[in-house]
Amino acid sequence: MATVTIEKVAALSRRRGFVYPSSDIYGGLGSAYDYGHYGVLMRQNIRNEWWRSMIQERDDMVALDSAIILNPRVWEASGHLTTFTDPLVDCRTCKLRFRADDLDHAQCGRRPSKHPGETPDCDLTEARAFNLMFETQIGPVRDSASVAYLRPETAQGIFVNFKNVTSSLRVKPPFGIAQIGKSFRNEITPGNFIFRLREFEQMEMEYFVPPADGPKWHEYWIEERRRWHISLGLRESHVRLRPHEPDELSHYSLATSDVEYLFPIGWLELEGIANRGDYDLRMHAEHSGTALEWVGHEERYVPHVIEPAGGVDRFMLAFLCDAYDEEEVAGRQRTVLRLHPRIAPVKVAVLPLIGKNEDMVTRARALYEELRKAMAAEYDEDAAIGKRYRRQDEIGTPWALTIDEQTLEDGTVTLRDRDTLEQERIAVAGARELLLERLQQPWSPRE
Ligand code: GAP
Repeated sequence: MATVTIEKVAALSRRRGFVYPSSDIYGGLGSAYDYGHYGVLMRQNIRNEWWRSMIQERDDMVALDSAIILNPRVWEASGHLTTFTDPLVDCRTCKLRFRADDLDHAQCGRRPSKHPGETPDCDLTEARAFNLMFETQIGPVRDSASVAYLRPETAQGIFVNFKNVTSSLRVKPPFGIAQIGKSFRNEITPGNFIFRLREFEQMEMEYFVPPADGPKWHEYWIEERRRWHISLGLRESHVRLRPHEPDELSHYSLATSDVEYLFPIGWLELEGIANRGDYDLRMHAEHSGTALEWVGHEERYVPHVIEPAGGVDRFMLAFLCDAYDEEEVAGRQRTVLRLHPRIAPVKVAVLPLIGKNEDMVTRARALYEELRKAMAAEYDEDAAIGKRYRRQDEIGTPWALTIDEQTLEDGTVTLRDRDTLEQERIAVAGARELLLERLQQPWSPRE
């Protein structure tokens, strides 16, 4: 198995149209990225899988899409204006800034192989609190009354809609509200490709439960979310749970466990699952003067909240790292993304063996037209067949169907498997059903 590095994954992502540095022609913008065609398709698959497991296949969940810019009082109540800070230190020598609590992962500007503070030349300031909220102004007048913020998490949009949801939809604890959307944080040390961004997309769900059931549901969601990542192809040995120590808990949390992934740079948070208690509903009730509680036939209480919170960009990076492989096949090097077929941007490539053979092209295009109605498919007649296979391997396409002489004679095609490289002969007429069936089957990575 190949040694995977973030650099290799970033290079492939750029070369094959998954991820580009943002505003590239102007020299980029620190830790901002744009997603190309295959990145967009893959991210949509990640969202869809989350949506399917969180909402579509459950009876106890409803959806929400709240605004990015909320009333600034939301952030006063949530505690973000005062406590959403990272400790920051400056180095007077190299003029770089670091997170004081993450110096072990940071690199000193003057000596790339050292960590800040490690050499006698390093001259670090005392740590000071740096608020991560992005500020903006509403309306034409720039004064303190017009200050607003880009949301640093989607969660607060859910809490402030608790009353709207419970009074308009048929919900009853335990139930959840789920949403996917962009969040913004002025991170001090973004980096490692799309791992830590200033603009990123979150997938969060707030699960409202009777207070006494909080710990039980917390355990449930921790396991549920661990299982989800593995079911979509992350190697079990690359996923672990890590409960937070009391001194690292966020200001709102009674308990948090992270699902961590073994990125090429070490074990790091993929998703956090927090027991937020009644903190958020209580704070918003106090600050807004609106009661935020569950009122049943014989009961009235402020629900406790369990929150699984993950990010599309970070999940994408984990899926890419886990899938990346290089191997030698018949004396030639191939790079392959062994993505779970449901996460892969393209499910099937349809290839006429000889791109100049009109009959093959006609049959291939007809099959492609049929398949694309059911799944993401690609047609390619350019270059030698080996080159076309390698291109599909690099974007992680699990299957290729090749139309050849025999197809014209007996209506069968070659089905090539990305992982095993095995080729089988199947009937053109049954190709669509067969692939749809395979897409539903469990898929396991090589350990
Ligand atoms: N509402 C709780 C919350 O936002 P978090 O642990 O700060 O918790 C949840 O964020 C998830 O969002 C993380 O596990 C990660 O997947 C993603 N995330 C957070 N900050 C990120 C950043 N700067 N860049 C990319 N993804 C980020």
